[in-house]
Amino acid sequence: MKIKNICCIGAGYVGGPTMAVIAQKCPHINVTVVDINADRIAAWNDEDVSKLPVYEPGLDAVVAEARGRNLFFSTDVDKAIDEAEMIFMSVNTPTKTYGKGKGMAADLKYIELCARQIARVAKDDKIVVEKSTLPVRTASAIKNILDNTGNGNGIKFQILSNPEFLAEGTAIADLMNPDRVLIGGDTTPEGQEAIQALVDVYANWVPEEQILTTNVWSSELSKLTANAFLAQRVSSINAMSELCEKTGADVNEVAKAIGMDSRIGPKFLKASVGFGGSCFQKDILNLVYIAKTYGLDEVADYWEQVIIMNDHQKRRFADNIVSTLYNTVSGKKIAFLGWAFKKDTNDTRESAAIYVADDLLNEQAKVSVYDPKVVAERMYADLDYLNTRTAEENREGLEVCKDSYQACEGAHAIAVLTEWDEFKTYDWKKIYDQMQKPAFVFDGRGILDKEQLKEIGFVYYKIGEGE
Ligand code: NAD
Ligand code: UGA
Repeated sequence: MKIKNICCIGAGYVGGPTMAVIAQKCPHINVTVVDINADRIAAWNDEDVSKLPVYEPGLDAVVAEARGRNLFFSTDVDKAIDEAEMIFMSVNTPTKTYGKGKGMAADLKYIELCARQIARVAKDDKIVVEKSTLPVRTASAIKNILDNTGNGNGIKFQILSNPEFLAEGTAIADLMNPDRVLIGGDTTPEGQEAIQALVDVYANWVPEEQILTTNVWSSELSKLTANAFLAQRVSSINAMSELCEKTGADVNEVAKAIGMDSRIGPKFLKASVGFGGSCFQKDILNLVYIAKTYGLDEVADYWEQVIIMNDHQKRRFADNIVSTLYNTVSGKKIAFLGWAFKKDTNDTRESAAIYVADDLLNEQAKVSVYDPKVVAERMYADLDYLNTRTAEENREGLEVCKDSYQACEGAHAIAVLTEWDEFKTYDWKKIYDQMQKPAFVFDGRGILDKEQLKEIGFVYYKIGEGE
């Protein structure tokens, strides 16, 4: 079966970039990305590609090339479903905030709504692809909905699992050159035919040996497993960072030493103020919940520790600022460099900066923030969401600056929360001259030049580095 029309439901951080690359690489396929959020669709359609709703290096060029040719963004979900032979579901699957599994399980209401809409609208057979990250065995629920809520006129649905492994900030490079593409489907001949149809799409630019096909459950579970392993590495190195600080070891040296063991490997061993992002925490909590529902308490506890360690890392960073500043930050200006959860993205979901700011505001600090890509409204929304204090209090306690030097002026301390490259190129002497003395820098990303900063006169703390 040759695919000519693809629909993707969900124009977010995954749906937008993923479909833009598919459209660019497959000019013979029409790709329509739909969303219920009209503002988001309008931004995807903005003539000025610097205004796209997702910031990713290289995304603007891909969109500029394909949009209007074979890449379309629309709010007309029904029409796009109707026209497509293959429909990707790329909607959000956040942690549940209510009811059974609150705070742990994935909230599948958006996925269910998609499935119901596809069933209602479809007039011919469809391949439905799970692009969102989902609990293992969700495909059976989707199949049930598709088969039983539609018009009942014999339409056949094939469900594939095709989890996305892109990381934000490098999404375009990851999509153009993925380590692997994973496709899970039914072992029946119809299932295999559906798998092949999706393999054929990716084969336009991904070498076939990197396209892995499995059964549906392996594919669904591999996504949660991959994120759990990645997050576990960060928590493992962060756990060692605390021990390094106590013992005089340097976590970067330790990471290098262990990373040269080819069984361990050098990547993803950067100690930090704690991992953020929309998925690591959500997916591990989901994994923990799934394990618990099968009565696998030891498995659940094992993975939960990754989150406990991460929460500890964020909290101890804030605590260290307070204790170093003579046990009080009340009324003191603390400058934040960075708010995004990592560099090269405007995404702030679960960013460590939010939690560090929240702790410091509890201590009555005056926080001033500079981030090159995150807008003020986003930062306030992140803080308001925690419900720790009123919206007015958040706006009183936290100032957002468009200029980094202004953010640091008069500050007692600077905290580096995101590893943006530009921070390394600043005139640190100028910053020092405009700060209160002693001037402290708390480098939560370990990116600044320690010798240079110390020479200027800063009291410099780097995560994972003992005296
Ligand atoms: P997102 O919140 O940025 O985007 C989801 C979009 O879906 C939103 O724009 C929302 O309006 C839309 N939507 C929700 N319900 C809809 C409906 N019924 N009809 C039409 N549109 C609807 O989320 P995201 O970051 O793109 O993540 C999507 C999925 O991909 C999640 O399951 C996530 O775990 C997974 N994932 C994310 C990343 C990442 O880097 N962000 C990477 C891999 C996998
Ligand atoms: C992560 C995975 O890397 C992707 O493969 C996956 O598709 C995605 O989650 C998802 O499912 O959403 P992402 O969260 O975008 O991607 O970014 P990462 O590069 O993994 O970084 C996550 C967090 O860990 C960031 O806060 C980052 O600063 C932190 N991190 C990462 C470290 O502190 N140290 C490291 O060595 C690596």
